[in-house]
Amino acid sequence: MKEQIEKLIKEVLKNLGIEDEVSFVVEHPTDFKNGDYSTNVAMILSKKMGINPRDLAEKIVIELKGLPKQGFGEINKIEVAGAGFINFYLGREFFTENINKILEEKENWGKNKKGENKKIIVEYSSPNIAKPFTIGHLRSTIIGDSIARILTSSSFKVIRDNHLGDWGTQFGKLIVAIKNWGNLEEIEKSETPIKLLVDLYVKFHDEAEKDKTLEDKARASFLKLENKDKDATDVWKRCIDLSMKEFERIYKKLNITPFDTIYGESFYEDKMKAVIDDVKKKNLGKESEGAFIIEFSEEKKLPPLLLLKKDGSSLYALRDLATDKWRKNEYGNDIRIINEVGSEQKGYFKQIIEAENMLGYFTEGQRIHVAHGLYRFSEGKMSTRKGNVIWLDDIINEAEKRAGEINEETKEIVAIGALKFNDLKRDSLGDIIFNWEEILNIKGDSGTYLQYTAVRANSILNKADMNRSIIDEIMIPSEIIDLEKYLYQFPEIVEYSYQSLQPHHIATYLIELASSFNNFYGNTQILVEENKYMTYHLNLIKAFTQTMKNGLWLLGIEVPEKM
Ligand code: ARG
Repeated sequence: MKEQIEKLIKEVLKNLGIEDEVSFVVEHPTDFKNGDYSTNVAMILSKKMGINPRDLAEKIVIELKGLPKQGFGEINKIEVAGAGFINFYLGREFFTENINKILEEKENWGKNKKGENKKIIVEYSSPNIAKPFTIGHLRSTIIGDSIARILTSSSFKVIRDNHLGDWGTQFGKLIVAIKNWGNLEEIEKSETPIKLLVDLYVKFHDEAEKDKTLEDKARASFLKLENKDKDATDVWKRCIDLSMKEFERIYKKLNITPFDTIYGESFYEDKMKAVIDDVKKKNLGKESEGAFIIEFSEEKKLPPLLLLKKDGSSLYALRDLATDKWRKNEYGNDIRIINEVGSEQKGYFKQIIEAENMLGYFTEGQRIHVAHGLYRFSEGKMSTRKGNVIWLDDIINEAEKRAGEINEETKEIVAIGALKFNDLKRDSLGDIIFNWEEILNIKGDSGTYLQYTAVRANSILNKADMNRSIIDEIMIPSEIIDLEKYLYQFPEIVEYSYQSLQPHHIATYLIELASSFNNFYGNTQILVEENKYMTYHLNLIKAFTQTMKNGLWLLGIEVPEKM
């Protein structure tokens, strides 16, 4: 529709003898009173031509009305408003047709074909073995899963990858700690194995303050691991199994779509040499105090990127370069990559992306770092800190306890929906300050409010006697309500979220959609004999529940049966 209007305007400009490129916009006015689409073309042009914008707008409208009728599709009114805006109103027919379209397309409603035949890796979550699944990882998991869903809806072939932190010097430390102070069999039998592993890791650092040889021993242990030493590998593998069990439990609880690949950093161990070769071939590397680094040109203002330590062991960055080189070989030169990782690694990803450009691995924009801000806790009840970390389980338990106060039966779906929505409703770059009252508020802009509205709409449909004598002709009111005006915009919102890689556009839209539904519902007697529009109203409600369901699916949020 937008393109159609743009085309009509361009035609009129040509008829008026205006040949220059004019950069005008056609968009939805914020207030539905000002039409369904609006353009500033007259205002832009009037400045150039030095004439009154309203006069020019009137002239354009007369010309528009003179064009062949069939070019207008569903537009039935064009008006000049304000300082010189031209507003377009869609007719009844368009909205009625759109409801039918939603009911036909069902779960496909809202999808687009922008990503057809394109492959994209969405890498997210990526927790670290033998460390807590932090709320930073929670954000990455929630946002990454949603982005993967949005891309799937835009027809991309999405590969979901969990880039586990399962390699690096910290495993040397862990191996030393287990050997000195731990008992792996007992840890494996424990209810809380990860907490015990983290305790050991903390103990290592305490002890290393006193005993300077421990760090060297840890480095030696990691080197053993890199050289495939049998004992070291055995301990490492067992720690992975313990952590994976824990992570799988969390993913299930959070209703996260299963990953397509879980390679982890260790997978790239034998693929790192090829990167070092590339770096050397391109003359990009440099020895620095025994370490091997890449330096960037002055104007990039980036610190050097460390690839190898002086003992020859690999670093995080080298594993990332190896990962991306391998991905390119595996999935093809045109593979796109998204890393959903906290904004504390923003500088690091700038280095990685720049290094990969220098190495010729990728072109500008082919791989993207999608960052997110931090969670922050207002001091008080909810800063359940154990040591220095906030355990995800404590958060989930608290959410369920509070959701249970609304309804015990649905508390899991409500709690997870609330946590996810609280994250996805905002620009992901900002920090989140935890506020339980806001998160589980049935009236505010919360996941709970959306679920509640969807349940309410479903219950009307369930109550309606759908077997009522078939009415041949559906009576349709002439008035067009806001709910209908929100409904048709859903596919545009999905597309916009894909382009910006920001799920919050969907979240904000769903809140508006739910409010317009509640408005309609509050003002309309639906299931009463006198309502001659009942069939139409029920179709409208069905179209609403379908759109809400599809929208919540994109955010990874389920709708409970009852609430
Ligand atoms: N495991 C890392 C962490 O917890 C995140 C990994 C991000 N992905 C990457 N390709 N570097 O900080």
